[in-house]
Formats: sequence, C-alpha cells, structure tokens
Amino acid sequence: MCGIVGYVGEREAQPVLINCLKRLEYRGYDSCGIALLGGRTEVYKDAGRIEELEKVLQSNESRTGIGHTRWATHGKPSEVNAHPHTDCSGKVAVVHNGVIENFLHLKEQLTNEGHTFRSETDTEVIPHLIEKYYQGNLEQAVTRALGDIAGTYAFIAIHADCKELVVARKDSPLIVGIGDKEYFVASDAPAVLDYTDRVMYLEDGDIVVITKNDIKITSNGKQVARPECRVPWSIEEAQKAGYDHFMLKEIHEQPRVIRNTYAGYISTIEPEINLEIKRAVDFDNILILACGTSYHAALVGKHVIQRLTHIPVNVDIASEFNYSDTVVGKTLVIIITQSGETADSIKSLKKAKELSCHTLVITNVVGSSATRIADDVLYIKAGPEISVAATKSFIAQLIMLYLFALARASVDVRSRGSLIAELRQLPNKVHEILDREGEIAERGKYLAEYENAFFIARGINFPVALEGALKVKEIAYIHAEGYPAGELKHGPFALLTPNTPVVAITTRDNTYETLLANIKEIKARESPVIAVAEEGDEEIEKYVDFVIRVPRVDPIFSPVVNTVALHLLAYYTAKERGCSIDMPRNLAKSVTVE
Ligand code: AGP
Repeated sequence: MCGIVGYVGEREAQPVLINCLKRLEYRGYDSCGIALLGGRTEVYKDAGRIEELEKVLQSNESRTGIGHTRWATHGKPSEVNAHPHTDCSGKVAVVHNGVIENFLHLKEQLTNEGHTFRSETDTEVIPHLIEKYYQGNLEQAVTRALGDIAGTYAFIAIHADCKELVVARKDSPLIVGIGDKEYFVASDAPAVLDYTDRVMYLEDGDIVVITKNDIKITSNGKQVARPECRVPWSIEEAQKAGYDHFMLKEIHEQPRVIRNTYAGYISTIEPEINLEIKRAVDFDNILILACGTSYHAALVGKHVIQRLTHIPVNVDIASEFNYSDTVVGKTLVIIITQSGETADSIKSLKKAKELSCHTLVITNVVGSSATRIADDVLYIKAGPEISVAATKSFIAQLIMLYLFALARASVDVRSRGSLIAELRQLPNKVHEILDREGEIAERGKYLAEYENAFFIARGINFPVALEGALKVKEIAYIHAEGYPAGELKHGPFALLTPNTPVVAITTRDNTYETLLANIKEIKARESPVIAVAEEGDEEIEKYVDFVIRVPRVDPIFSPVVNTVALHLLAYYTAKERGCSIDMPRNLAKSVTVE
C-alpha cells in the first residue's frame, strides 16, 4: 500500500512527481504530498487526491524531489499525517511505504532527546532518526537510522544540504527507472513508463544513493549491482483508452488477455499443452495459497486440478496459513498473486520455503517480490491492471490453472484435445457476454437499489459466487455474501426478505437440479432472484425474476463466463450508485501490510 516516487535529473521534478504519483494512486489515495529540494526542502501536502494537491502547488524549478500517495495505517487520513514527513529542522524529508513496528518506542526515545513530533504516523520517526545521525553524509545517517528500525519499508530520504536521493528497501517493493542523466524511484514500474522502460528491481537490504549521473547500491556494507530489465508493458496499456473506468476497460480486454495467457503454452499444430515448471519436482499433493480474488481463483483451481489430474489439492487463505500447523509432505505450494507484492502471500511463500516445499508463483508482475523468492514462476500476462478491483487478472489466473491441470491431465487424449479446443474458444465466448453488456447494465441498475444481497452457487461455481459478492461489496458498497446454495438454509435463510435479492449461478452441471430446488425455497421467502444461466436454458425462466444469459461452455470452464457476467453486474451496480469504481474507499491495489 502507499505509492512512493523520487526523481533526480535535469527535468523540473514537480510535474514528473505528480505524473508518476497519478500512476501510483491505485496503491493508496487518501492523502498525498511531495517534497522538493532547493536551498531548502519545500513540502506540499493535501488530505485528498493528487488533483487536489496540484491546486496548492507553487511553481518550483527544483530538479530533485520525492512524492507519496497514502493508504493510512497509522493515523487517519489528514494533511498532517500525509507524507513527506520532516525532521525538526525541516531539512530532512522522507516518503515511506511499510510499517515501522517499533515506532512508539523510538518516538518516546527521540522525544526524550528533544525531538518534536507532529503526526500520528510511524513514518515520522525516520526523518528524526536521520536528523539525529546526520553529520554531513545522508547515506551514513540513513544507514545508522536503519540500525534502529524494525519493520518493513521502502523509503526515500532527501536532505536540503545534499543533492541526492537516499533509498532503502526491506519487504516493500521498489524499482529504479533509468533515464539519460536522470533516475526515477517508484513503488512499481508502470509509474515511470512515461519516461523510461529501463528499470532495476531493488532487493531487501539495499541502500541506494542516487544523483543525476550516478547510482550506488550497497547491501550488507558491500557495493552491489542490480540487473537492468525492460518493462514488458507499454504506456498505452496503462491508460483508460476512452473507457469511463479502468475496470470496464480491463473487463473488455479479457478476450485478448485469455489468448495472451495461453499463447506459447498451447501448440497450434497438435493440441497439446507445453507447460512444465522449471525444475523437475516430485510432488503428490498441492497446496494453493492466496488472498481476495486470487483466493477465489485458487478455489476454482482446486476443482479443476482435482477433476483433471486426481492430485489432491488444498487451498488456504494466505494470511491464515501463516498461523496454521498445516502438515506438508511432498507438497507443491502454489501462490497466486496478481501483484506479486501482497504481504500475506509473500509471508506464506516464505513459510512454505521454510517447510522445504517446492514453491510456484502465478503472478502478473514481472520482477515482483514473489517472483524473486519462489522456485518457479508462471506469468499470466494480463498486462497492467490499474483498477483496484481485480477482473482480467482473475480470468487470466483461471486460464493458467486450466493450463497447469491440462498439462498433467489423466483424462484420455481425446477428452484433453476437446477441452483444449474449448479453452481456445473462450475469448469468443467472453465476447458474446460483452455484447450483452446493455442487458447486464439494466440488472445492475436493479441491484443498485438494495443494501444486502446473497450470491449462491454449488460446486465449481461456489468460488464464483464468492467473487461476485466480493466485487459488489468492494465497488458498490452493498453488503453481499457468497454462499454455497446448500448452506443458505442453515442460518442465512433468516435474512431472506423481499429486500434481499439473491444472485444464483445456475450452470447446467451436476448441481443444476438441486440448485433449482434451492431457488424455489428462496422464492417461497419472496426474495427476488437473478439467475446467471446458460443460453438455451428455458426452464430457469419459470423460477426467477431476471436472467443474465451466458454462453454454454463445458461446465469446467463455466467459472470464466459466469465471472465475466458478475464482474459486469458489479460494475454497473456501482456505476448506478455513483461509487468511486477504480479507487473504492479504504482500499488499495496491492496490500503490502499484513
Ligand atoms: C479484488 O478485487 C481485490 N482488490 C483483492 O481482493 C485482491 O485480489 C487481493 O488483495 C489479492 O491481491 P494479489 O492478487 O495482488 O495478491
């Protein structure tokens, strides 16, 4: 959470910082600020979005500066709690992403030594520690300050008497963008794409001193080099391209994303899957760990892998695995994380490694923290996902899990061939749903009138019900619960009234007849029912109030088409309610705190 940026070079720093911050706003957007180096350190802050900050800026020709967009962890969103934070002299300024765990102790100590604190944040101890240790060399002061700090951080410090950025990283992502006589620092690569696609990914423990002509990276007291990489995304991919919201654009990108994800793995001549994880690894069971939407993909993956390979699969929420005594044997641990930076997922990955499991990360972000820890990586190639609500990355995660399972499928060759053929048809099937967007928008307007809803399904689509409910909560601020249809009568039935709509996913697989019976029970309680039903299913019309149609596919692929419909439903529900769709309140795209 939180986005940090830094610039040193020959351009005016202020517009560069603002531009980069706008690209990082998805990481946090409750307040923001910048600091510019000149004869002194100039700080501008606002308790709102970056466009508000722009209104209070004054012209400034500084060529060096830092910026921050915040997702509050310590202290409410306010101007005083916004970064950059400064020391007593006002010469040191710091932007920080992470959590300083021992800040209360440090604050007390520094206060006793005469330092005055203004904010409620953990971050503010950093500039004060730097002030305490500064004797004319900022790098040395930062290094000594780091000796006192416990916690996670990616921070950039500046000092009015120095013309450099000093940067430090531990457990929070940070990249350096390389230009011609200029360097950029940012929480992730898309932030700097307007200026350069040449980046270095910093490692935990790195301390970096950057001037416009030079960069020096130190780790454990020794100078080190980090390889330069090209960012595989273009700036156009990170823009809205005429859509009202990134979320809608990203939903519309899904046919292309599905092709991108399977391209390279499916041979066009002979329908085979060519997906081997790098190192030969002997496993007899799989454990998948993830958070949020990625967790829902994991739950679908469990059904798919078990059905096609008969390998036992368990799924755990990453943050819960971190406290569990899960017994692992010859276990392949798969971590699914769009960003590759989610703190809970990274911690579970490290724990799996400690337990000597072979680890595989399925992620979207090249060079992200998870990719540098795991034994193996599979990239979903969804392109940058800017909207906080994950959509295309979920669909791409599903495609990768289908590929993974098909590559190991114990079904006969003919069945595998026809499943692969059907997988290749999914982009067209998704197009068919997008063509019906208008009808789904109408259903969204209907759902928007309610404050509570249930999403139900059975079997492989139960995780899709969870996902539909999560999206409606996240972007439309409607309280929604995803339930296995069979569980509803074990308690939640008490909540069914004419004001509690139920969205039922009614794929015609082995769950269909029982689900129809469940819908009848729900209708007997007068709750309105919206069904997500296959083309050609006329029967369903008799039992429900509205039908959202999806194309017929093999039931194993039904989570793809059903989810696209539910993501559109959530989008239009949120739009009708006038919500901030791409940046929902209190949320951030990558959750880098536990
Ligand atoms: C979904 O719309 C979310 N915003 C959220 O649940 C997300 O999927 C979760 O935080 C996990 O993120 P990751 O895939 O980047 O690890």
